[in-house]
Amino acid sequence: MAKSILVANWKNHPSSLFEAQTLLKELSRKRELFKKLSFFIAPPLVYFESVSKSNLAGLTSQNVEANNIDMVKNFGARISILGHSDYRLSGETDETINKKIKAVLRAGITPLLCIGEKTRDSDGEHFETLREQLKKGLASISKPKMIIAYEPVWAIGKSAKDSIQRDDLEQTVIFIKKVLSDTLGRKTADQTPILYGGAVEPLNVNALMKKTGIKGFLVGHASLKAKSLISISKSMLE
Ligand code: PGA
Repeated sequence: MAKSILVANWKNHPSSLFEAQTLLKELSRKRELFKKLSFFIAPPLVYFESVSKSNLAGLTSQNVEANNIDMVKNFGARISILGHSDYRLSGETDETINKKIKAVLRAGITPLLCIGEKTRDSDGEHFETLREQLKKGLASISKPKMIIAYEPVWAIGKSAKDSIQRDDLEQTVIFIKKVLSDTLGRKTADQTPILYGGAVEPLNVNALMKKTGIKGFLVGHASLKAKSLISISKSMLE
């Protein structure tokens, strides 16, 4: 069976090179543990070299621009996160994300498309948001090798107790798979891993991983503490 996927999204942290290198050093002590997963780190560009040299994780970019895809590619990035809510909130649209997905695919980088609703209510309207983000983001792309991350915006940056409930996640993953199948065809949909992100902490990993259909996690704040990330990794392997 394919390994579970863990992507550490450092966003704009840590605040110094020293801290970044210390974190990498602490994580490196558990190198054998991370080898049991498909482990990636998405650092700010200024720490690309340190992450790359650590040989600990696949290098991932947090976004790309038309004029830096070559640089990101030549640095060895294997995945590009696209459509993260931080960038959607600052003006990125499904159309611009679609162009970026096509561009990174051309460059041989795997796109990791983030989708997620801002709010969730009992009417299920959030499903329409997800459908639209997928349909527009993947428009006129055929059989991509890619990853999807479902990240409800309302959960991002919160603590485990405010994260999504297991049953809601299971239902949402079924919905995403159906839309992917309608959009890309059954075979590609089956081969596309779906990750969850949003308030993933050591406390909720077990519940969210069990039979929800996800293949792993995109982790923000909890990835900045070696202890938390190690504990998340251990739970993923249980
Ligand atoms: P969080 O962030 O784990 O801090 O909620 C996830 C993300 O924004 O990718």
